[in-house]
Amino acid sequence: MAALLEIHDLAVYYGAIQALKAVTITVEPGEIVTLIGSNGAGKTTSLRCISRLINPRAGDIIYDGVSLLRRRPDEVVRQGIAHVPEGRRILSRLSVQDNLRLGAYSRHDRAAVRGDLDEQYVRFPILAQRRSQLAGTLSGGEQQMLAIARALMSRPRLLLLDEPSLGLAPIIVRDIFRIIRTLNAEGVTVLLVEQNAQLALQTAHRGYVLETGEVIFAGAAAQLIDDERVKKAYLG
Ligand SMILES: Nc1ncnc2c1ncn2[C@@H]1O[C@H](COP(=O)(O)OP(=O)(O)OP(=O)(O)O)[C@@H](O)[C@H]1O
Ligand SMILES: [Mg+2]
Repeated sequence: MAALLEIHDLAVYYGAIQALKAVTITVEPGEIVTLIGSNGAGKTTSLRCISRLINPRAGDIIYDGVSLLRRRPDEVVRQGIAHVPEGRRILSRLSVQDNLRLGAYSRHDRAAVRGDLDEQYVRFPILAQRRSQLAGTLSGGEQQMLAIARALMSRPRLLLLDEPSLGLAPIIVRDIFRIIRTLNAEGVTVLLVEQNAQLALQTAHRGYVLETGEVIFAGAAAQLIDDERVKKAYLG
């Protein structure tokens, strides 16, 4: 099977500081792949490269057989990659509904967009109840749901999630992860960045452990959970 996403030997610098060193990651269609690692390991940087928000100095990113490096961020969205950024980044002074509509900015099929809006409200009933409310007045969990729903409005084949559990109560985190599994079962491929390594490895098929810009372990999620070195460093 051809990979949906292949990241080859990616190197990223912020000025003189090297944030990624030859990072290589593959995501097969239908998988949930997780990227775990401590603060500053380079997880967010990796996702921002895929979305074309950062230019790597070396390496390549192949999506569906074609390099993304010459594409603009909006072209990447149109190709089927949606990014739920760290810290959600919803537009707090716009309504829930307007945030969702913005997620469909790359699309011109208005009737289908309306249908997809209704679909999000079925998937996230709390957002339906609050559709006219300013997004900034939502709880943290509701904002995370809005950020995911907004990403789904572009009809992604590949969903990039950056720390969806951050700052949320365990019961809400469970809801969010249930939604991630459901989306995956419906055919959406997922690249999940998490500091909550336990939960991420329980959810994913495969995982990569990033440390100071390098992949130090990779394998089936079940294997990583049982690996003594991973346990010791990341699973408390
Ligand atoms: N805009 C920037 N300018 C300079 N250095 C940066 C910038 N963004 C990230 N870095 C540095 O690059 C490295 C990787 O950061 P990154 O945000 O990718 O890590 P992360 O794994 O997502 O961490 P966290 O778990 O805290 O979100 C860190 O050392 C960070 O300080
Ligand atoms: Mg990060």
